[in-house]
Amino acid sequence: MVKICCIGAGYVGGPTMAVIALKCPNIQVAVVDISVARINAWNSDTLPIYEPGLDDVVKQCRGKNLSFSTDVEKHVSEADIVFVSVNTPTKTQGLGAGKAADLTYWESAARMIADVAKSKKIVVEKSTVPVKTAEAIEKILTHNSKGVEFQILSNPEFLAEGTAISDLFNPDRVLIGGRETPGGQKAIETLRDVYAQWVPMDRIICTNLWSAELSKLAANAFLAQRISSVNSMSALCEATGADVSQVSHAVGKDTRIGPKFLNASVGFGGSCFQKDILNLVYICECNGLPEVANYWKQVIKVNDYQKTRFVNRIVSSMFNTVSGKKIAVLGFAFKKDTGDTRETPAIDVCKGLIGDKAKLSIYDPQVHQDQIQRDLSMKKFDWDHPVHLQPMSPTSVTDVTVVWDAYTATKDAHGLCILTEWDEFKKLDYQKIFDNMQKPAFVFDGRNVVDVEKLRKIGFIVYSIGKPLDEWLKDMPAVA
Ligand code: NAD
Ligand code: UGA
Repeated sequence: MVKICCIGAGYVGGPTMAVIALKCPNIQVAVVDISVARINAWNSDTLPIYEPGLDDVVKQCRGKNLSFSTDVEKHVSEADIVFVSVNTPTKTQGLGAGKAADLTYWESAARMIADVAKSKKIVVEKSTVPVKTAEAIEKILTHNSKGVEFQILSNPEFLAEGTAISDLFNPDRVLIGGRETPGGQKAIETLRDVYAQWVPMDRIICTNLWSAELSKLAANAFLAQRISSVNSMSALCEATGADVSQVSHAVGKDTRIGPKFLNASVGFGGSCFQKDILNLVYICECNGLPEVANYWKQVIKVNDYQKTRFVNRIVSSMFNTVSGKKIAVLGFAFKKDTGDTRETPAIDVCKGLIGDKAKLSIYDPQVHQDQIQRDLSMKKFDWDHPVHLQPMSPTSVTDVTVVWDAYTATKDAHGLCILTEWDEFKKLDYQKIFDNMQKPAFVFDGRNVVDVEKLRKIGFIVYSIGKPLDEWLKDMPAVA
């Protein structure tokens, strides 16, 4: 029986391995992690991540051909194929700080593999890494191998959170990069045979190592660029009276452009878009390509601009001050159907409002108070490092309360802002919310989920990203 071990039981390692186990009953899959709490959760009824459909898949395989363990070395030494799906955060110190990927966790995983391996192994880069990482990993493995043969493959993951299980069941493509040597090609075939148990062959793309590594960074950069493009248009829509949803619809009808990923928002978030573009920018700079680096940097600048613009809209609408005012924040996760808050635009928006002395009442159906407090008190990029390397006990932010429903959050509030597009925010009783708020009552919709006309009829002053402006906001500056 083929044995797979995956180092890193996170958002990628857990779901991908669970699906491999489900689709390949002839393969034994072990997912390992240094975090005891995470592994305990994977072995319990409350999984460490919220992902629709994941519970079902795990329940079907756990205890059969899927296991979760902290015995990293044992499972690595027994495996034929070792996936490495550890975090690859942005460096916070030293050379390339604030841009380059920090490969500390990857390197220590590689050294451990070399240390414990007694039989030949295929080592698969599942984490998103800079181009040419495989070369560095290969060197670490071969210089420490004690004669064991290793083949390195790049097999980046394209799943999106919230739809991870359907993305894994039915991927647009699976990408496998390997060395153009007989050994490298054989390793590619071995991994291809795993995916071929449920993915049609014409969707499995095999390339050289560097193309696979770069394609992952490029795909995320292209996706983020689409959002910054539509968000830049949203600012122009507000200035001209155009409606960004109508513009997106009209533009997306061109089959060369396509309709997906054109929703204007308060900004993109998530653990990867910003990190991977910063990484791409750094690689361009290191390769003497400053024009290319600056081109991609702009995608992040527009994203930051969009978040600042949103905060400024709120403050300027509310008589240029939110000091001491209660503002309800509906939604904190970086998108709907996940409890993940990594790089969520809500962090920057809330910090902006707190900076203006607002009192926030936050509600998100999947995010707990501890997480929100951590996020609002942590420094940029610290979140992607293991807990033991993060600040000991971040001081809690006093002007923030976290509540468990939207009606409590909005009671007596001066304004409410929607920062995540949870379906339940579309169905709220806005008349009831209006009746219980201070007047004038403001709605700031960062996700275009509310029916603007309906809310204006109730009496709200409504700002919705990229939509024709409320009379109230017309002469107010969008960016201070
Ligand atoms: P994560 O932080 O959820 O999981 C990483 C896990 O690796 C953690 O549980 C950590 O404890 C563990 N780990 C770190 N070093 C270890 C070691 N030496 N031994 C054992 N375990 C170790 O991260 P994630 O979101 O799963 O992302 C992992 C990688 O996949 C990143 O490179 C990311 O860019 C990429 N990626 C993420 C997504 C996503 O949607 N989150 C999608 C595609 C690609
Ligand atoms: C993204 C990519 O979609 C995945 O293919 C990739 O594997 C993953 O990053 C990764 O490498 O981590 P994810 O971040 O989970 O997936 O979620 P997305 O659906 O891409 O959303 C990212 C952010 O963009 C969210 O904040 C979302 O609200 C925002 N977004 C998305 C918009 O503002 N407008 C849109 O039209 C689409």
